[in-house]
Amino acid sequence: MNGGGGVGAGKISLRLQYYVLLAGVGAVLLVGCLKYMPAAAVVAAGYGSWGSGLAVASRAAEPEASPVVIFNFGDSNSDTGGMAAASGLNIALPEGRTYFRRPTGRLSDGRLVIDFICESLGTPHLSPYLKALGSDFSNGANFAIGGSTATPGGSPFSLDVQLHQFLYFRTRSFELLNKGERTPIDREGFRNAIYAIDIGHNDLSAYLHLPYDQVLAKIPAIVGHIKFGMETLYAHGARKFWIHGTGALGCLPQKLSIPRDDDSDLDANGCLNKYNDVAKAFNEKLAETCNQLRQRMADAAIVFTDLYPIKYDLVANHTKYGVERPLMACCGNGGPPHNYNHFKMCMSGEMQLCDMDAKFISWDGIHLTEFANAIVASKLLTGDYSKPRVRIASLVNSTAPHDG
Ligand SMILES: *[C@@H]1O[C@H](CO)[C@@H](O)[C@H](O)[C@H]1NC(C)=O
Ligand SMILES: *[C@@H]1O[C@H](CO)[C@@H](O)[C@H](O)[C@H]1NC(C)=O
Repeated sequence: MNGGGGVGAGKISLRLQYYVLLAGVGAVLLVGCLKYMPAAAVVAAGYGSWGSGLAVASRAAEPEASPVVIFNFGDSNSDTGGMAAASGLNIALPEGRTYFRRPTGRLSDGRLVIDFICESLGTPHLSPYLKALGSDFSNGANFAIGGSTATPGGSPFSLDVQLHQFLYFRTRSFELLNKGERTPIDREGFRNAIYAIDIGHNDLSAYLHLPYDQVLAKIPAIVGHIKFGMETLYAHGARKFWIHGTGALGCLPQKLSIPRDDDSDLDANGCLNKYNDVAKAFNEKLAETCNQLRQRMADAAIVFTDLYPIKYDLVANHTKYGVERPLMACCGNGGPPHNYNHFKMCMSGEMQLCDMDAKFISWDGIHLTEFANAIVASKLLTGDYSKPRVRIASLVNSTAPHDG
């Protein structure tokens, strides 16, 4: 298997585990250190106000349509091929089998929520920032990399590194524009862009083995890194923020297959209360932080979308969606109840794969299937799970105030 030119499946599996699971273990290293102008200084300058974020919708009637530009920061939940490009990891089928019919570097059988968001806005899927060939950055760039943490140094491409990459991209664009050259995104594009962040799951996962109170105590610092990221982006002209909370971690086959003393922590739907409570507490803190930033960044639109109720509903109401086994991975090892084995994951030589037309929520025990992502996206796009209740489409055409 490891003889010829190819990389053995077992080896791939191990490397995948590294990217997907290891993240966060070294979180305390705190290597990264951003050296930007403190956002507060810029915040203080002020640029007039949109009032509450709800004003965004009413400003949607613009004479001229803005091109859609999205900069996305995150982990494997929104990685459209960045980890594969950065590591040279040759992800093989069955990843991608449902929609793309080829592996794209997404850890799913098909499209991710970010892909459905792009489609709903009539714009192509985002190119990974690090993908050298075939990329088109005219509608933004995807800095998300599988395994990434919000905590600096917790992973090779933690949020601070992704922000550095964005600032590099922006500075380089402005350099070229100043020379009169064309760039994929112009000044207007940067100003009107949506800055999306979906991160923190790996930070939480690294601490979930700790007693509940101790995990809770980690949340402010994790959210603090996301907050700092938003302040940094704001200080560099970002005015439209689209922030995702985390999902129902306690319903993931991966978490459910961790050996436990007894089932006393399982809820009526078979999910782990503790992990789900951590997810809810994280989302609450992140929502609260968005509220605070909305006060301080009065000229920005900051939308927080809670993915927890959407993802929990998938499990709780699975029969409504035609799903038989909501707590079992399509691609994994071991069969029912979870088809998940940490040492024989999806992509390993011993994977057991569900039928193409079987309806599963979990693809590999950690990430959702295209089927589930489509449902999550359709609910998310209603704006009903967002604070304020704003659709992402209304952000695109809303006016970003001009600075200077
Ligand atoms: C299940 O679906 C019903 C009907 O749509 C809804 O009222 C309920 O909130 C859902 N349950 C969960 C746990 O989301
Ligand atoms: C933005 O406005 C243009 C026309 O004014 C419209 O065609 C386009 O669909 C709008 N974009 C979104 C995402 O709503």
